Amino acid sequence: MVEAPPTRATVLILDFGSQYSQLIARRVREASVYCELVPGTTPWSELAKKSPSALILSGGPASVYEPEAPQVDPAALKAGIPVLGICYGMQLIAHHLGGEVEPGPLREFGPAMLEVEDAEGLFAGLPAEMPVWMSHGDHIPKIPPGFRGLARSANSRYAAFSNDAGIMGIQFHPEVVHTPHGRDILRNFLYRVSGLTPTWTAGSYIAEAVETIRSMVGGGRVLCALSGGVDSAVAATLVDRAIGDQLTCVFVNNGLLRKEEAERVLEVMHRDLDLNIRYVDAGERFLSALRGITDPEEKRRTVGRVFIEVFEIEAKAIGEIDFLAQGTLYPDVIESTAPDTAASAVKIKTHHNVGGLPPGLRFKLIEPLRHLFKDEVRAVGAELGMPDDMVWRQPFPGPGLAIRCLGEVTEERLAILREADWVVVDEIKKNGLYRQVWQSFAVLTPLETVGVQGDYRTYSNVVAVRVVTSDDAMTADWARIPYEVLARISNRITNEVNGVNRVVFDITSKPPGTIEWE
Ligand code: XMP
Repeated sequence: MVEAPPTRATVLILDFGSQYSQLIARRVREASVYCELVPGTTPWSELAKKSPSALILSGGPASVYEPEAPQVDPAALKAGIPVLGICYGMQLIAHHLGGEVEPGPLREFGPAMLEVEDAEGLFAGLPAEMPVWMSHGDHIPKIPPGFRGLARSANSRYAAFSNDAGIMGIQFHPEVVHTPHGRDILRNFLYRVSGLTPTWTAGSYIAEAVETIRSMVGGGRVLCALSGGVDSAVAATLVDRAIGDQLTCVFVNNGLLRKEEAERVLEVMHRDLDLNIRYVDAGERFLSALRGITDPEEKRRTVGRVFIEVFEIEAKAIGEIDFLAQGTLYPDVIESTAPDTAASAVKIKTHHNVGGLPPGLRFKLIEPLRHLFKDEVRAVGAELGMPDDMVWRQPFPGPGLAIRCLGEVTEERLAILREADWVVVDEIKKNGLYRQVWQSFAVLTPLETVGVQGDYRTYSNVVAVRVVTSDDAMTADWARIPYEVLARISNRITNEVNGVNRVVFDITSKPPGTIEWE
């Protein structure tokens, strides 16, 4: 695996198992400072290889005095760089530097009022009293020698502490929205305490990635499979910016795309962005392989298998290829390297990568988005000049409409689904909801029901409308979109789409449902 070496100022977030660790990383990135999430117990000798400018120790479910509790390498606290401990992270600092941690008389969970006692550094420019979000059972009755209290709350004498060497801790969670000044506190740590500057921007990232890709690829050739989604499109555009004609993109139209999708992707990627694209219209091949299949898993496997067959033919036709560019994102990297807690997440991903790339092909990988969160990918895409409708595209599954066309996938049923889906997305966009929701789409159910249209009895298809909010697709909720919008969607689908006489709205969250119906 080849990836960009970190040449910029890096903050390392030591993850001790808090459900908010990823959120800390996002907040630091939002402050335009580069950071990486690493296992909390990583030895300092390993951490030091990344030359971190500062460390943040996350919260976690353990108690520092338990024998099995994950510990920070004490050398990290003596390395002479600023350290911020959050909740469990603060307790680790107390524990290792000579303070005391014990079970608190009261669990402190939820909102609390913070009274600032020292308005320098971490709390500079902030109110003397502010609401914060607490979630801890242990407390710190005695702080380590050389430390002083910076703030207190009703249940925590030491809700924040610091020493003169830039080692500090806070008992509350600055990364969650329920701590309204949390972003300011993190920024104070990054800018004032650690002396960092907000230089991690889309522009600086592109410049750096272009250099790295150039030096990695040299005179080699790169292949990239475009899916129509934002990640592969941004990855390809970035690689193209670096090495131009040495990149060939393959875009397989599997016949399972949405209305006008293939045309739009080609228009943007080929005509506007001038990428070198091999377009393969393999719709018939996919549809004939799917004929007669109704089982969801078999549909996925079939789409995956045919994709590999088609892709291999194309790759051979292109000739000698050295690298494969992929749009892997940072959350995927975190999930695949994180221990136990992410086990189920990993399984879901493997499952979902059906329609991904052939495992047997021997290329070196280029993953230029491997350090980015989705919102950063969008910022990079916009900076590269990609149009809004590509950059802000909602996620779309690899097996495409095959898993939204319940029952058998036929050209006729796909045509109905495409039209209904078009109406859903069109109305969601017209009503300014497209960027607010995670996904919005139509599902063609295998049901027919009785209706009355124009004085005639009809017996035709039921379309389900699915609109969900989510942060990462691991959990989701059905979006509370206004009734008027639902009414309009229903009205338009039954009027404009032949073969549909009933529309239902899916009010299931994930869990227990999943976002897709298959
Ligand atoms: P579920 O239905 O499991 O989906 O809640 C979670 C997210 O993943 C997308 N999805 C897929 N993406 N290949 C993909 O690339 C797949 O096989 C696949 N299945 C589901 C889904 O659209 C949602 O965003």
